[in-house]
Amino acid sequence: CGIFGAISTQSVTPSLLEGLNALSYRGYDSSGLVVGGETGLQLRRSEGKIDNLVKLLGNSPLDGGIGIAHTRWATHGDCSTRNAHPHMTADVAVVHNGIIENYQSLRAEMSAEGMTFESDTDSEVIPVMVSFYLAQGMAPQQALYQSLSRLEGSYAIAAIFSSQPDRLYAARKDSSLIIAQGQAGIMLASDVVALGNSAELICPLTDGQLAVIASEGVRLYQTTAQNTQIQIDNIPWQPAPKLDVADGKQGFEHFMLKEIYEQGDVIERILNHYLDINGRQLNTGLQPGQSAAIEALNIVACGTSYYAACTARYWLESIAGIPTDTDLASEFRYRNRPMSSHTSNLFISQSGETADTLAALRYAKAIGCPCLSMNNVPTSTMALESDTILPTLAGPEIGVASTKAFMAQLTVLLLLSIDCARHNGSMDFDQELSLIKALHELPSLFHRQLLTQEPIIRLAQMMATSDHALFIGRGQAWPLAQEGALKLKEISYIHAEAYAAGELKHGPIALVDEQMPVVVIAPPDELQPKTLSNLREVASRGGKIILIADSQAIEASSEFITAAIPMPQVDPVLFPLLYTLPLQLLAYHVAKEKGLDIDKPRNLAKSVTVE
Ligand code: G6P
Repeated sequence: CGIFGAISTQSVTPSLLEGLNALSYRGYDSSGLVVGGETGLQLRRSEGKIDNLVKLLGNSPLDGGIGIAHTRWATHGDCSTRNAHPHMTADVAVVHNGIIENYQSLRAEMSAEGMTFESDTDSEVIPVMVSFYLAQGMAPQQALYQSLSRLEGSYAIAAIFSSQPDRLYAARKDSSLIIAQGQAGIMLASDVVALGNSAELICPLTDGQLAVIASEGVRLYQTTAQNTQIQIDNIPWQPAPKLDVADGKQGFEHFMLKEIYEQGDVIERILNHYLDINGRQLNTGLQPGQSAAIEALNIVACGTSYYAACTARYWLESIAGIPTDTDLASEFRYRNRPMSSHTSNLFISQSGETADTLAALRYAKAIGCPCLSMNNVPTSTMALESDTILPTLAGPEIGVASTKAFMAQLTVLLLLSIDCARHNGSMDFDQELSLIKALHELPSLFHRQLLTQEPIIRLAQMMATSDHALFIGRGQAWPLAQEGALKLKEISYIHAEAYAAGELKHGPIALVDEQMPVVVIAPPDELQPKTLSNLREVASRGGKIILIADSQAIEASSEFITAAIPMPQVDPVLFPLLYTLPLQLLAYHVAKEKGLDIDKPRNLAKSVTVE
């Protein structure tokens, strides 16, 4: 979910909508805003994408110099206007990010006191409780503070009181919230991305802080150990970071396609950043001692970033000899993994805001472990909280299904593996140079692949009618198969599963029949003969095989396959980067064939900021 707020001498509605659009990567199930003007606080909410709210405002405009807005990714309560934020009583309007874990008992308590609720959300308990405390005679700030002190869970909130329509209240616990000053007035946002380049100064709130924002300035309070509030005299303003802002689709039909096409440039940008001016010496930003000191590594991430971790594990182990564990961030903290202050951890997140990955980072930091993070948004919470950052430099990624950020993660992870290998002596200089040279050649291979999409488009037409698909591969082709299946299900809503090719016969092969497309990823490595044997096992059961491999392997398997995507030769170390491209294009063209909303698939958010 995303929060935006503004106070200005001009009408704030345009800036609230701009902020919401920038925050839509955090969820777009519904959206809403409250604007304070001459007629008091006015509410507009709408189900679905932010465009629906824009249309609603077109029919019934709002004008006023103060407002709060929210875009929702539903957790408690369905995606409906009734459950959209802001939630409002006669006294106060509130927007909330996070989850109130004890909302059921608070709701029961408030209901017993005669208070009423209109939504199914956990969030509504906040304005209802504030109203309750106001009725007990408390002043607005005290009623808000008292309500917040009763909450268990996480929150970032913004509130406006009917009795004080000239000020915004903001507070947070375990969910980010930033106050900003710019030419147009004072703003409030759940992350800097929403501020665009209109902020001059920012002040990220910390846990336990409450801000009162009026046009004449900001007052900031901190909760003390004695559970009282003290005012902070000097607000720690800092210069706002300059953001890399996405500049439209540039003629592409979808952001996803544009981002797929950008991948060659992204690899070049990464090489320019991480190699010295002679294009040889790697500089990952890790001190030589740091990379040499990595004896074992935990990589923690979610979604596509997790599959980048699983792919890189093979590089780190085989190139650099570093035993590597990979964990889903949502599981990592709960498996009581023995860890000491010597266990190195790497947290991968495109957005740097994913709640589970952030919580995992904080967990490892609390143990005293060295924490590296790999982020695409340098101003993100994770980037700010890590010991060392490896930027992925993919530029703003707008398509919800990650493409160029995954490619960037793979590239930086490969460079990290090479860097570690050099420092621990497991790779000689010639090998390093030859890999770097091959990496430099990748963008032109991508370019050629993008010119020959016809086989993939024909294949997509066939797959678009399927309800299910299997993806198989061995070695690094297994996590790639997982990423390929994830891409397909995310944007085409086809049920897709990935298996290690050797595992298919232990159960999933029972699913294979004449209707089942099976995508086999078989790059020419030492495992290829085994994968091609697995392909025959599937063929014997009638499965429709789609082979992604080099021409020789396609030729040798021609009698068993329904379709093929021929791949050029590349250094075997680099095949995960090259073989990712057809998987992305396949998912894209299937979703396009089905006429789906490729950049904003149903039920998803680009960054999930609740656990
Ligand atoms: C969401 C997105 C996925 C993404 C995952 C992790 O679920 O829909 O595409 O891979 O979050 O995001 P992160 O920003 O942490 O890489």
